[in-house]
Amino acid sequence: MSLAAQELDIEAAYHAVSDTYLGSDVDIHGLCRDKRHNEPVMQGDFVDTYLKVPTNAGAKAAKCAVTLFKYKDVMTVLRDADTFTSGFIAEGLGAFFDGLIILAMDGEQHRRTRALLQPVFMPQTVNEWRPEIDRVIREEFLLPMVADKKANLMDFGLYFPIRAMYALMGFPADDPEKFKKYASWALALVAANQIDPEKAKIYGPLAGQAVKSLYDAIKEIVVRKRAEDTQGNDLISRLINAEYEGRALDDHEVTTFVRSLLPAAGETTTRTFSSVMTLLLERPELLERVRNDRSLIGKLIDETVRYEPVATFKVRQASKDVEIGGVMVPKGSMVQCMVISANRDDEAFDNPDAFDLDRKARPALGFGFGPHMCIGQFVAKVELNSAINGILDLFPNIRLDPDMPAPKIAGAQLRGAKTVHAIWD
Ligand code: HEM
Repeated sequence: MSLAAQELDIEAAYHAVSDTYLGSDVDIHGLCRDKRHNEPVMQGDFVDTYLKVPTNAGAKAAKCAVTLFKYKDVMTVLRDADTFTSGFIAEGLGAFFDGLIILAMDGEQHRRTRALLQPVFMPQTVNEWRPEIDRVIREEFLLPMVADKKANLMDFGLYFPIRAMYALMGFPADDPEKFKKYASWALALVAANQIDPEKAKIYGPLAGQAVKSLYDAIKEIVVRKRAEDTQGNDLISRLINAEYEGRALDDHEVTTFVRSLLPAAGETTTRTFSSVMTLLLERPELLERVRNDRSLIGKLIDETVRYEPVATFKVRQASKDVEIGGVMVPKGSMVQCMVISANRDDEAFDNPDAFDLDRKARPALGFGFGPHMCIGQFVAKVELNSAINGILDLFPNIRLDPDMPAPKIAGAQLRGAKTVHAIWD
């Protein structure tokens, strides 16, 4: 079977990514709890042994030498990006991005690139977009749904992050249909990372086409904005006007940077939205509390990202011989960090299996930690906050639809609920 990038729709692309990273249907929290107590530094590759999902290191990377389950060990690794590097990612997913993918950068190059991109993602910049994000979410998405009194909330969850994110990046807002096309191409890149050789035959070439289509679409916008001498505060305009390594970026570099951000930008927020709404609608008392006190939405998002992080693990490579949790890890070894386990470590969080908005604040690792910590987290939080507020305002007495299957958070690598069916008055 062959599939052309031009024909790919976003739902198909999203579900292809979900299927790729679903892995084995195991009790991941139970397995991790067992490891935390009995083998907190496991010799070997937990993900390959138990979960059967690809890692972003790609098929070429060596298997992991050790897997970490404790909060303190995972944090030690994520915090120290000089000893535990990310450059190997360039051989997997990064191969699609001509090396200009921040996730796969180390050392000085990573610091300089982060400094270049960071201003667009700072809370003060993101907050300038809040009124527009609120308007788009309510007027374009939620208000047209009100009269139906029921929905699979994921029909909304799939689209609103893309719509908001692409505007922030500087894509012209006049044709939202185009955003869906771009987002489906970005997802095709994420789906390329297949273990199954048959699927790899389909998604490998598709990703090749998608990467080229995205490049052409973004480049056209970059060229136009540069010709207009843009001074906007969107990402593309800022990159055009920024200095990088003592000089301006050319059109190819701006295009490649923007393209490299897209796969991280949409579906992580979509999956987090599915988990927030599932955890909230499953708890009517909490729902009532949040409805009456919207200042709790920030904590609701933070607790969701702790309790059910979208990305269950991160991989790093040791740049020298190093000891972790009493185990010697030789230089060059892959180190797998089970974020989903660290976030429920009882040495870090009291009663960790409870979903509790009142718990003592402590950094959970669902947005990562250290130098590679999610650059887009404020954007994601603003979008989610706006979406949850809009739903609580516009869908009175929203609750789970008793006639439809209950939502289920699943996924061995990328977690979320496939559907969230709700009704309202
Ligand atoms: C709820 C939604 C999101 C979640 C849960 C999430 C999660 C993460 C995590 C765990 C990392 C760390 C990766 C690592 O350590 O290797 C990360 C990095 C990153 N995220 Fe997000 N992310 C979200 C939304 C976004 C958005 C909206 C953007 C927008 C562009 C974004 C862009 C990035 C980038 C560029 C990096 C790499 C940063 C670096 O390497 O310095 N993310 N994200």
